[in-house]
Amino acid sequence: MAAPYRVFVTRDLPGDGFAALRDDSEFDLDVWPEDFPPPRQALLRRVKGSDALVCLITDQIDVEVLDAAGNQLKVVSQMAVGVDNVDVAACGERGIPVGNTPGVLTETTADMAWALILASARRVVEAAEYVKAGEWQTWTPTQMAGVDVHGATLGVIGFGAIGQAIARRAQGFGMRVLCWNRTPRPDQAAAVGAQQRPFDEVLSRSDFVAVSVALTNETRGLIDAAALAQMHPGSILINTARGPIVDEQALVDALQRGHLGGAGLDVTAVEPLSMDSPLLQMNNVVVLPHIGSASMATRSKMADIAVANLRAGLAGRPLPHPVSPVVSA
Ligand code: DGY
Repeated sequence: MAAPYRVFVTRDLPGDGFAALRDDSEFDLDVWPEDFPPPRQALLRRVKGSDALVCLITDQIDVEVLDAAGNQLKVVSQMAVGVDNVDVAACGERGIPVGNTPGVLTETTADMAWALILASARRVVEAAEYVKAGEWQTWTPTQMAGVDVHGATLGVIGFGAIGQAIARRAQGFGMRVLCWNRTPRPDQAAAVGAQQRPFDEVLSRSDFVAVSVALTNETRGLIDAAALAQMHPGSILINTARGPIVDEQALVDALQRGHLGGAGLDVTAVEPLSMDSPLLQMNNVVVLPHIGSASMATRSKMADIAVANLRAGLAGRPLPHPVSPVVSA
């Protein structure tokens, strides 16, 4: 009998696929047991000699890790759709396929973008904290008054699957939807009642701007000081994609100057966000700990896909979900 495949998995995963992998004698699994990611030296040590690596967005998979793994490494399977933490080009040069988990998290992430739109517009988190702090004394005409979502204009920056799902939901709120994508997607825009417009126009005409692009060299800092200045006064920025797409210092400035009405962020430039961040001092900012895809059902499906990619890579078959050079979130 052939020796089992050695697989390093950087965290315990949910789902039936992973449970089956554990029970399969074809695989010799080394699963990092903690909630925190393996520290760099542990990652370099544990990956050595692996035939496959299953990783998460918190693991930096670069040339050093590939070298540490060794020439026998056959597949890198990431349990996420975004792969900005993986040096996909370096994997490609070595003939190592990289898999990701698109599709299954689209609707769950769009739900979260909407949770942030509603929470930011209607001051939901601030109001709940106010009640818990015992400050609710009475009802006043303007107490916790926010802005309306229905009838407003939503701008979606990045019109991949998640951007489209965010836009589709806006129809139920009677919103105008403007969208921008680097490669125009007029059919997809029309299908969800959105109008494709130039980048600057989406920013300047929208009451809510939802960011939904993959993080690449081109999109890093896409929402910079100039882009934020284009947004109209009082508008609200939502980011469920990746923190570094937004220049966080410029965002803080725009909020402190009162130019923006608020922000709903599921992602930050550095995660976790430092407790010193001015963003945490602002009542009109909601920050979540990168939980856009975090429903049990979706996370289990993501893990199942990661396992399917892993099995295919080890068997020398095409991955069910290979990463193309640029992945649209
Ligand atoms: C992803 O998949 O890229 C998310 O950010 C984590 O679910």
